[in-house]
Amino acid sequence: MTASSAGLHEDAEKLRPETIDRHRAVASLMEELEAVDWYDQRIDAASDAELKTLLAHNRDEEKEHAAMVLEWLRRRDARLDEHLRTYLFTDKPLLQIEHEAEHGADAGGAASDGCLNIGSLRK
Ligand SMILES: [Fe+2]
Repeated sequence: MTASSAGLHEDAEKLRPETIDRHRAVASLMEELEAVDWYDQRIDAASDAELKTLLAHNRDEEKEHAAMVLEWLRRRDARLDEHLRTYLFTDKPLLQIEHEAEHGADAGGAASDGCLNIGSLRK
């Protein structure tokens, strides 16, 4: 197994090149976010104030890396783009946004499809 195929769940010969590049991007995004989590914990545990500040600076650069890789993925995935446009940079409750995206902003009353009527929680 080469480094580039590590983590693949199917034979690389059966996968399209774009699927393998996407796998690389997803793996990188996971690694960047995992690094943020590790830094968060390391910062909590560190006792030296300068080290805490340095680690926090480095952690925040990982967030920049994560954002850039996520954007690379978004530009190549129409459905991901759609979901990010629906949920990111909003402040309403997330399940309310989902309900409105699926049923319209003024959908009220009991939903006939069994969907929870989140609109009633707005009051
Ligand atoms: Fe990074």
